[in-house]
Amino acid sequence: MTTNAQPRTQWLGRWGFILAATGSAVGLGNIWKFPYITGEFGGGAFVLVYLACILAVGVPVMMTEIALGRRGRGSPVDALRRVIAESGRGSAWSLLGWMAMLCGFLILSFYVVVAGWSFAYLWKMLSGGLAGSSVDEMAAIFGANNASPLNLGFWSTLVTVATMVIVGKGVQAGIEKSVSWMMPGMVLMLLLLIGYGVFSGGFPAAVDFLFSFDAGRLSSEGMLAALGHAFFTLSLASGAILTYGSYLPATTSIARTTLSVALADTVVALMAGLAIFPVIFANGMSPSSGPGLIFMSLPLAFQAIPMGTLFGILFFVMLSMAALTSSISMVEATVSWLCDNKGLSRRSASWGTGLVLWLVSTLAMLSFNVGADWTLYGKHFFDWLDYLTSRWMMPLGGLGMVMLAGFVLKSESFREELGLSPGWHALWLFMVRYVSPLGILMIFVDALGITRVEFGLHWPWLLAILVAVTLLGELVSPRLRRTLCS
Ligand code: PHE
Repeated sequence: MTTNAQPRTQWLGRWGFILAATGSAVGLGNIWKFPYITGEFGGGAFVLVYLACILAVGVPVMMTEIALGRRGRGSPVDALRRVIAESGRGSAWSLLGWMAMLCGFLILSFYVVVAGWSFAYLWKMLSGGLAGSSVDEMAAIFGANNASPLNLGFWSTLVTVATMVIVGKGVQAGIEKSVSWMMPGMVLMLLLLIGYGVFSGGFPAAVDFLFSFDAGRLSSEGMLAALGHAFFTLSLASGAILTYGSYLPATTSIARTTLSVALADTVVALMAGLAIFPVIFANGMSPSSGPGLIFMSLPLAFQAIPMGTLFGILFFVMLSMAALTSSISMVEATVSWLCDNKGLSRRSASWGTGLVLWLVSTLAMLSFNVGADWTLYGKHFFDWLDYLTSRWMMPLGGLGMVMLAGFVLKSESFREELGLSPGWHALWLFMVRYVSPLGILMIFVDALGITRVEFGLHWPWLLAILVAVTLLGELVSPRLRRTLCS
């Protein structure tokens, strides 16, 4: 069913892909970011919009990526080139593959810094470096951790090395083997932490916060954050899922696999909320304290509760593992491309990539200390990496891929690869042609700062636009297809 005859490594076990892709999806985005943005954007209403974004945009885009990866059996660059050639289309579209590969690499350059925080806090918990601190002291500890380039650099280097060691061992012996114990271990620890939360006294407040729907708290900003986060949390448009998809056996159902991964990712995000917020509420703290939520409020909260240190250690072990299973997926695209095209061994490709990564991430790490003044348009290098990837490269890559799948490539390729019944296939096509692009375009309108679309309270309008775009699209789609394909 694939377009090249070369045998490509495949996942060894039945669960290989699901564990690896869930490992990629579940990361700092779920445990660090999701709880704090939920806190910022008002709880249950935000959660509901986020779930809708996962279903309407995340799932169709992920299915498309896996299908592209499996059909092209290669890194994003090679896979897209093959699939595009198979449909006889213009090669300009293969730029999408380069962008995805670069995007994964750039995300990792700042991700290792945040993952480094997690490792550093684990060490602090173990060594008693956080004991008995007050709110101000916690903030000072966080500040001091960042202020020393040697300290911060040590932890991010450690994450880089660990990532490269795993990736260097290969798809089966490195990635698959490590996720097959880290993922179950992580879930087990999360369950223990939730169990602990149940007895902390803050559990009902946490459940109420996460699941009570108050439409009045929905803002257009929150809705866009939910959409952007759906991309990040599912590891979309960054080469990770596409490359993992290229190792997927031909007989596995892409739709079912995608749904499992999206569901697992969402459940873990909610579980993280159920582990974190009870502890926060039990101590009368604010759920909306931003990025410092798990590094400042949470450790402090753990101090105040019996056996808190033990559970604090558990929390940071879990967070570090979640970060590692994500970081390995971000470089797999680059490493696989180097092996396939430059004749390098996995080990050399990994260390080579790791070295460049280390240089870029060191620059990102310096944004927190000596490079604090090196700003461009008010943003540090670290913020630029985050902004460019989350606000631009991921949505643009996602948009490109759904347009490619919806209008440009031969529809038989996807019919074969997805193997859906006609009804489900039509639904997928409708999603990738109209719903996903429209959603993604809204992120751009926002990123460009043209206008803050206040669509929060105007659902009928949103629906009307969707219907109009669909009708128009179907009307001009043969012509559109000709233009896009020329
Ligand atoms: N999905 C990961 C998380 O939530 C981040 C990620 C982005 C991983 C892009 C791979 C590629 O933390």
